[in-house]
Amino acid sequence: MGEFVRVATTNDIPVGGLKGFEIGHKRFVVAHTVEGFFAVADECTHDSAPISSGRVRGSEIMCTRHGARFDLKTGAVTAPPAIVPIDTLTIKVDKDDILVWME
Ligand code: FES
Repeated sequence: MGEFVRVATTNDIPVGGLKGFEIGHKRFVVAHTVEGFFAVADECTHDSAPISSGRVRGSEIMCTRHGARFDLKTGAVTAPPAIVPIDTLTIKVDKDDILVWME
């Protein structure tokens, strides 16, 4: 059974910023876009680069190793060379706290 786990506060990640986390051997990254906060697996599906070292572009996250892009809302690939979607996590903001659903 899963639960929401507090990982940061909204002040920790400015708009356009990324922050990687590890909880229970699971690595993920929280991105702050103009549309809100999103969480995805911290592993590019192209060649396993940590996508927390990438960049936010609008509502997408870009892996800086080879330039693949993913939609932060759906995990869908929006630019190659990746072809497999990235895993997304359920995230919510409660007052100033950012919480991510962990199984
Ligand atoms: S490892 Fe991310 S684009 Fe290649």
